[in-house]
Amino acid sequence: MPLTVINHPLVQHKLALVRDERTGSKDFRELITEVTMLMAFEAMRDLELEDVQIKTPVETATVKMLSGKKLALVAILRAGLIMVDGILQLVPAAKVGHIGTYRDPQSKEPVRYYAKLPADIHERRVFVLDPMLATGGSAVDAIAEVKKFGATQIKLLNIIAAPEGVARVEREHPDVEIVVAALDSHLNDHAYIVPGLGDAGDRIYGTK
Ligand code: PRP
Ligand code: URA
Repeated sequence: MPLTVINHPLVQHKLALVRDERTGSKDFRELITEVTMLMAFEAMRDLELEDVQIKTPVETATVKMLSGKKLALVAILRAGLIMVDGILQLVPAAKVGHIGTYRDPQSKEPVRYYAKLPADIHERRVFVLDPMLATGGSAVDAIAEVKKFGATQIKLLNIIAAPEGVARVEREHPDVEIVVAALDSHLNDHAYIVPGLGDAGDRIYGTK
């Protein structure tokens, strides 16, 4: 599956502000929401359409509307939560699932503490949301959970990815397309993305 990097000027400009350590939580949240909406625009480019007849005030017209599978958004807690609202503004009928994981400080592997997915997720196109794809452990675990419930059409949306995380998702879930706003250089000794943006959850919620 291809990796899509959205290098649109608006996305790159807003991402620069997101990365800046001087950006406080309020602006950080708003910018992530805006970047997510712009990313969704591209990630949903292949949604199916169908012809529908409507009457405009002028005449009857055949127009295009969304058809096919409905959508599900799956947020990886905590940070992925911030990406949900922007996409819901675009596709308000999408259902939302949550998977709670945190990285074990020693092993850096994900520890799952919560999962609640839409009951009909197997009938939906799924967008797994997390601002950060570092080692890839959290994303690989979340995608496996989504697949356990029968979902087959899955895309992963990350604001920033490290090559290590991309490689791991590609290895363990080769059928999942990854869409990112930036592919950064590498992980540091603490498995943080370089240059990255720091700890996404802490910056969103002001917990550090
Ligand atoms: C961050 C981030 C991802 C994960 C990425 O969450 O939001 O979920 O790390 O790292 P990985 O690719 O190496 O798994 P964190 O574990 O810090 O939890 P939080 O969102 O609750 O702060
Ligand atoms: N989680 C984050 O929030 N940031 C990173 O750089 C890596 C994992």
